[in-house]
Amino acid sequence: MLSIEENERLTRVGPGTPAGELLRRYWHPVAVANELTDENPTKFVRILGEDLVIFLDRSGRLGLLADHCSHRGASLLYGRVEERGISCAYHGWLYDYEGNILETPPERNDAIMNSVKHKAYPVQRLVGLIWAYMGPQPAPAIPPYDVIARKDGKRRITVHPMLDCNWFQTMENAADPTHAPILHQDHSGQTAVPVNTTRGFIDDQPSFDFWPVEYGIMKQRNFLNGESDQHPLVFPNILRSGGTFQIRVPVDDTHTWRVDLNFQASDDGSSDPSAVDPPVRYAEPYKDPPDALHPFTRMQMNTVPQQDHMAWETQRPISDRTAEHLADGDRAIVFLRRLTMENISKVEQGLDPIGVIRDPAHPIIDTNIANDLNASGGQTGAGRPYGLSTGTLVPRSARSRAEA
Ligand code: FES
Ligand SMILES: [Fe+2]
Repeated sequence: MLSIEENERLTRVGPGTPAGELLRRYWHPVAVANELTDENPTKFVRILGEDLVIFLDRSGRLGLLADHCSHRGASLLYGRVEERGISCAYHGWLYDYEGNILETPPERNDAIMNSVKHKAYPVQRLVGLIWAYMGPQPAPAIPPYDVIARKDGKRRITVHPMLDCNWFQTMENAADPTHAPILHQDHSGQTAVPVNTTRGFIDDQPSFDFWPVEYGIMKQRNFLNGESDQHPLVFPNILRSGGTFQIRVPVDDTHTWRVDLNFQASDDGSSDPSAVDPPVRYAEPYKDPPDALHPFTRMQMNTVPQQDHMAWETQRPISDRTAEHLADGDRAIVFLRRLTMENISKVEQGLDPIGVIRDPAHPIIDTNIANDLNASGGQTGAGRPYGLSTGTLVPRSARSRAEA
């Protein structure tokens, strides 16, 4: 159980908030790169509680600027892109990708051009995504995690529907080794059925371990048949499950954008063009109506991502941790909260939090994909080797008796 103050400290993402300042020390994907084209050169995004516009200027440069024009506040989403930047549609103030004001029609106002700097953030295009850094300069590197940096295979991207809840409950789920055999016991594609729905397949997974690694937390689930799998939480907002980075980008305090980046190694070490520019799939809404909140919508429960979204959203827009009752199985969640609090404190002391890489030539960081039994699939994040188990599985035909 946390106090209201502790809960606020972990969850709020806007400028100047403790977790918001922590999150601003990392690069985050903010859009799918191929959404920006000559025909559609601007896109509105809200990231870490800030309203922003990405644009592709006629020189091929990407920029990320505050949405509201510094003149009188019209949205730059409707700006016209030019060789030198983006021109506000209202009176034509022209901005470059660094937020410099280059023109101030109708006059040329040097005082304003020299003294006003429009808010701008650095962006870069990598593996089919546009990444932004919203923290203090100098910006670190995007860490070369294997899923992002390896070239010996192919990639794909899945964009999930907008999550109507706070980012931190999605990450507590990423640190939660006990939910998968229960919440995901009956997703589509699962052929085995458990002996009862209360315990699901949890008895196939009699123990779990977790330990800190340089970039977050490594978790290990130990199965009855002697197998185990490892899949890490990459601090602060990524779960690596199989070959997939499930990236949970905080949009604002009560919305999170989930984009999955999957890497699959080739057998012969060859590279596929999709390793650089991956195909993109946009998942259909997971609830009906798609924009309503619980209980005024019905969440779908057929697939692993749908089941996770149900659990995350129905914990409330921001989970009320003053009302919870933690048990021993939640000890990795307690560890994640402590790790997050420690790194918030580091940022407050002017230090880099864990996982910040400043060497642009840093070697590829191995997150141990090969040790994840789900590595060949990985897109669902199910993490379910239950088919290997002999422990408590019963045939599907026995299901009605087992559930009775
Ligand atoms: S509001 Fe943008 S130029 Fe006037
Ligand atoms: Fe899950």
